[in-house]
Amino acid sequence: MELPAGLLIALQSANKVLVLTGAGMSAESGVPTFRDAQQGLWSKYKPEDLATPEAFRKNPQFVWDWYEQRRSMISKVLPHAGHTALAELARHFKAFSVVTQNVDGLHQLAGSMDVTELHGNIMRSVCSRTGKWIDNELIIGSTVRPPVSPHHPQGLARPDVVWFGEALPEQNFNHATGLAGDCDVCLSIGTSNLVQPAASLPFLALNSGAVVAEINPIPTRLGQLAHFSIRSTAVDALTAIVGQFRVG
Ligand code: OAD
Repeated sequence: MELPAGLLIALQSANKVLVLTGAGMSAESGVPTFRDAQQGLWSKYKPEDLATPEAFRKNPQFVWDWYEQRRSMISKVLPHAGHTALAELARHFKAFSVVTQNVDGLHQLAGSMDVTELHGNIMRSVCSRTGKWIDNELIIGSTVRPPVSPHHPQGLARPDVVWFGEALPEQNFNHATGLAGDCDVCLSIGTSNLVQPAASLPFLALNSGAVVAEINPIPTRLGQLAHFSIRSTAVDALTAIVGQFRVG
């Protein structure tokens, strides 16, 4: 595919690149997005029944089982050529950071070294009372669902993901804010840009003078303001970028 020449020129001269990713980044690995009309998880399930602290308090087993299904599905998928392209591209810059809303760990699996998770990681569990991390070895094969927490007598294991109404891990979000305010190029890939505060990051990059490009087959509100809107999938756009990027 043909990329905007201006984007390649901006990348060519950039020192610091920030990549922001959402569920669309993992779509071509087979992980469903949340808001796509047909396949999106929130077209089939209500977030308030599954992704809130209230839902977990009301029906912990139902919520735990749903996340177990997603964990099982995610443990079988692999990073795609777009994830690999990002890991490869990183080698050419002084700083190349990935900030993701995804909880599947696919960037790390593809070899990206500098990854900040804003919404947690579905493969980890934490105590519902203390928030302390629970070693998977302690709960694997538990017949009780959710397993009891080793950290608190009334605690239960819950997925280490951020639910609606919960704050993002503060340190990670502050780090992401710093990166957005200080990058030369920002690529926003596969996110509807609807969930705050993550959605604010590309706008912060834009206001701080970065060249911003959106990669998404469907335009979002960022697309109208970004310098470049690439209407294609993550795999097509990122393999094209890595293929057309010239070193030196
Ligand atoms: P969404 O499901 O809201 O948006 C996914 C975006 O990816 C859409 O804009 C699609 O057009 C785009 N897309 C689909 N396939 C693509 C592809 N192959 N390549 C590139 N883009 C593609 O997902 P997010 O924006 O990530 O929160 O949603 C944000 C948060 O809402 C999630 O992290 C999750 C959810 O509730 C938590 O779980 C805390």
